[in-house]
Amino acid sequence: MRDAIMTSLEENRRFFPPENPQANIASMEQYRELCRQFEQDREGTWRKLALTHLAWQEPFTRVLNRDKAPFFTWFEDGRLNVSVNCLDRHIEAGLGERTAIIWEGEPGDVRRISYRELHEQVCRAAGAMRELGIEAGDRVVIYMPMIPEAAIAMLACTRIGAVHSVVFGAFSAQALRERIADAGAKLVVTADGGWRRGSVHALKPHVDEALEGLEGHTVKHVLVVRRGGNEIGWRPGRDIEWDEALAVAPSRCDPVVVSAEHPLFILYTSGSTGKPKGILHASGGYLLWARLTMLWTFDFQPASDVFWCTADIGWITGHTYAIYGPLACGGTTLMYEGVPTQPDPGRLWSICERHGVTIFYTAPTAIRALIKAGDEWPARYDLSALRLLGTVGEPINPEAWMWYHRVIGGGRCPIVDTWWQTETGGHMIAPLPFATPTKPGSACLPLPGIEVDIVDHDGLTILEGGGMLVIREPWPSMLRGIWGDPSRYVETYWSKFDGRFYFAGDGARRDEDGYFWIMGRIDDVLNVSGHRLGTMEIESALVAHERVAEAAVVGRPDPIKGEAICAFVVLRQGEGDEALKQELRAHVARIIGPIAKPDDIRFAEALPKTRSGKIMRRLLRDIAAGRNIAQDMSTLEDKEVIRRLMEG
Ligand code: PRX
Repeated sequence: MRDAIMTSLEENRRFFPPENPQANIASMEQYRELCRQFEQDREGTWRKLALTHLAWQEPFTRVLNRDKAPFFTWFEDGRLNVSVNCLDRHIEAGLGERTAIIWEGEPGDVRRISYRELHEQVCRAAGAMRELGIEAGDRVVIYMPMIPEAAIAMLACTRIGAVHSVVFGAFSAQALRERIADAGAKLVVTADGGWRRGSVHALKPHVDEALEGLEGHTVKHVLVVRRGGNEIGWRPGRDIEWDEALAVAPSRCDPVVVSAEHPLFILYTSGSTGKPKGILHASGGYLLWARLTMLWTFDFQPASDVFWCTADIGWITGHTYAIYGPLACGGTTLMYEGVPTQPDPGRLWSICERHGVTIFYTAPTAIRALIKAGDEWPARYDLSALRLLGTVGEPINPEAWMWYHRVIGGGRCPIVDTWWQTETGGHMIAPLPFATPTKPGSACLPLPGIEVDIVDHDGLTILEGGGMLVIREPWPSMLRGIWGDPSRYVETYWSKFDGRFYFAGDGARRDEDGYFWIMGRIDDVLNVSGHRLGTMEIESALVAHERVAEAAVVGRPDPIKGEAICAFVVLRQGEGDEALKQELRAHVARIIGPIAKPDDIRFAEALPKTRSGKIMRRLLRDIAAGRNIAQDMSTLEDKEVIRRLMEG
């Protein structure tokens, strides 16, 4: 994929970081020193960091337990509460009046919430949940727009040890239903609707539809925030008004102290096969790394920075860097409800100006779309408060990197290109903004404590060149498993190299300086606008349509989205036309959500397969991208099929 967006810019051009002696890690010497400490005493270094950076109710004695590898546990006999770490300890330190959340709604309404206010809201919400019978370990699905109540609901779960599972608000009722069922949720927190693209996008009706179609479900209550003002149905007894429930709940709620290994959240993500996987994260290790990476990769200065991660809380980026990371540090995080182009493509920059954003973190897709909108938009706003920029989610092409650096960062802000995954909980490979010389398009070097490597099919290290990205040592914020499916966890991440290391699913290259260049997924997972989608999921959605006999979905390079979705469809009978394409697109949106809608649909009489019946995906990718078919066609069952597909 990188090839498609690579420009002629010389890869190895370095950008040296500006000097900043006050930075949390201010030089390569400091970086190397930390790495050396890990080399000499891995567990001792993690121990020191965990004791210094988290508030423990009872400190742990054991750092890492490998007995049940690859089911590793961290700090397991330590006890803590995540909301105490994100709220109470800052208030106790005298920071109650500091702004925790700056929120801007799409219509322009603004709220600023101090740590004291956030604490009170979280306590009330936790009390309300308790009143509804939620106890430690129970699952709560959160299906919300980007409003402060979403963060409050997440933190309220952590207050009482409940496990949240946030479902992205643009997922369909059916996708929501699957996740509610898989998690066995007792409570759903939602809103009537939220603002997107100038109008209200309804959410509560999707919850109703999801629950109606779900036999014998475990959901007892639906807690509803009023935001959109749109009309919604109401089931008395089941549906509860958020405001009313919070109004009668006490303003204090004793935190439930849990083991560091207590599940914190489940977040569903797409895999290469079957249904979405419920990635499970544990409390202590996850929070430690959320905080450390905030301090290291973003050089976060809680007293002075205004941090804005544009990701929705429906994704891991929103979990770690819109909520847990900034709050675990006691800093200020910005949340925005709507789309970047509402009312015009200057919206993001106007928000940066209005609230004095100092650190801005977004996806390359957004950057590419904003480049297209024109330089006049950022030029209208004062972006001088910005001191650091970040990217995440997909490889960034050097052209977009340079634009981001020059136009948004005014040539003075370092850029951190951060590689990580839902499964890793936080950053794994990233430059340190005031230490690492960066190369546009490279995520640079692993963070201290993180042992990434590039290996060949036999698991042998490739010192310079391309191969598979793996992680050699367990790390505190690693996933603890796939909810309800331990064998899939072992199979997906640990079986490729016989349990020797974690297999990330990405291809990467290491250059002569040891810098990492992420090439993209090497499994059947697509990366569309920085969002992860399984080809199998889209294929199953397509074949669920009555007219479709067979479907194969592949990615093709796209200048804005990184990858576009291309579907090859074989019909049961009859010919396909434009109207059917539209119908199939709408059908996929109904089953998964609008993000999964195929960009191209090609009707075919058959799909190209090997003699053993496997779909030739590489060939389809070449056809989708309009590339010459270099592959040897002798193994193909029907060469005629290819010829027709290429013509079609
Ligand atoms: O392929 C990599 C890509 O996004 C995948 C992880 O997707 P998800 O779990 O949804 O998390 C996205 C946000 C952390 C990875 O396997 N990816 C993530 N960051 C980068 C990246 N590809 C290239 N460069 C990155 N900085």
